[in-house]
Amino acid sequence: MSDLTLSAEQAAVFDTIENTRENIFVTGRAGTGKSTLLNHLSWNTSKQIVICAPTGVAALNVGGQTIHSLFRLPIGVIADHEIEQGPELRKLLNTIDTLVIDEVSMVNADLVDAMDRSLRQARQRKNEPFGGVQVVLFGDPYQLAPVPGDADERAYFADTYRSMWFFDAKVWNETQLRIFELQVIHRQHEEAFKYMLNAVRHGMVTAEIAGQLNEVGARPAPVDDAITLASRNDTVNRINASSLARLPGRSRTATAEVTGDFGGRSYPADENLQLKVGARVMFLRNDPDQRWVNGTVGTVSRIDNTVKVMVDGDEHEVLPAVWEKIKYSYSATTKQLRRDIVAEFTQFPLRAAWAVTIHKSQGKTYDRAIVDLGARSFAPGQTYVALSRIASLDGLYMSRPLRPSDIIVDDNVRRFMSQAATVPGIAAS
Ligand SMILES: Nc1ncnc2c1ncn2[C@@H]1O[C@H](COP(=O)(O)OP(=O)(O)OP(=O)(O)O)[C@@H](O)[C@H]1O
Ligand SMILES: [Mg+2]
Repeated sequence: MSDLTLSAEQAAVFDTIENTRENIFVTGRAGTGKSTLLNHLSWNTSKQIVICAPTGVAALNVGGQTIHSLFRLPIGVIADHEIEQGPELRKLLNTIDTLVIDEVSMVNADLVDAMDRSLRQARQRKNEPFGGVQVVLFGDPYQLAPVPGDADERAYFADTYRSMWFFDAKVWNETQLRIFELQVIHRQHEEAFKYMLNAVRHGMVTAEIAGQLNEVGARPAPVDDAITLASRNDTVNRINASSLARLPGRSRTATAEVTGDFGGRSYPADENLQLKVGARVMFLRNDPDQRWVNGTVGTVSRIDNTVKVMVDGDEHEVLPAVWEKIKYSYSATTKQLRRDIVAEFTQFPLRAAWAVTIHKSQGKTYDRAIVDLGARSFAPGQTYVALSRIASLDGLYMSRPLRPSDIIVDDNVRRFMSQAATVPGIAAS
């Protein structure tokens, strides 16, 4: 797919996945190439792998299926309820060598244990964790947390688990999870910025570091192509709607083409994308010809059957992109895993980019951005995700100075990751 060469540490993880049956957690700071490695794995593995993710959009982004749809699990806490499996699902689960889960930090412990039970049951290997399947997890717990759920769910977790996090699932009492923490950051290159980001990640921002970030970042926003990363949805909608309205001319709407069943709301881009000449947009996908990446910001220069977008003085013609919804199944003829496209979403890979929520900016890279934490940051990791999107210090703008209360680190993450860090690349727990 891409001709990027894996770094030595990425290659070592790939080799371990390929050549062992160990359960592996691939983690690391923002920009260390976790997504790059997952993409490489999906194209180059010789194993029968199935890729899944906790949300529909995350699954579309990695060409996988959601965990719930793959395992046909009900929503909500599964606890010790019986897991129903038809013959098709059983056969499918029997062909898997390796189960890959992306964005694992959003997966809760109950769901991990349900996958474990489902695999044991389908493969009739009741005493083997995950029924003998190798699991490979990708994610950064310092960036995204599991979604808390309603009061009953929270009570269940409080009674049953040490925390909601995937690493507190019961299955880890029976099997090891080997942790690989990628060390080399590819997104940022300035030592000073990497040092500051690391402090934000770990909640160790001293007055001096905060002072440096504020000195650089708390300054008037540029009028050109900087995107605002805001904690709140309503801020984002307000900025995008008013900015589009302020542009002269008529807006045009590109309507997505949807074939097959997308199961509701989990579209990877706007169904009705409103554009005007002059609109600021960001790309939602990497370009196969590398003219832009997921997150590149540009300005619409022309709209007819295609859309032309100016990026750094170059005009590019943008064609609609296709997101494929995947469903794994078992093929009786080949006795192999099948990976079918069951639905397609076709739309220009663009979104209004005067502003985006910090949540939706996860995984992306921006040259310049204005970080708007509103009155206060309200989720663990939020400030870290926002700041770590930006490639260099001279692209950092903040709508107000950073305050100590903006930096929230979940104690469970600190506990798990510090224990992981004492034995890099060695089995923890
Ligand atoms: N081996 C490599 N050589 C050169 N560039 C790389 C390499 N690996 C990753 N990159 C680049 O570094 C940037 C960050 O990589 P990637 O998005 O995979 O990191 P990540 O760990 O998934 O980050 P995040 O936690 O923010 O999602 C991308 O622009 C990617 O192309
Ligand atoms: Mg990523």
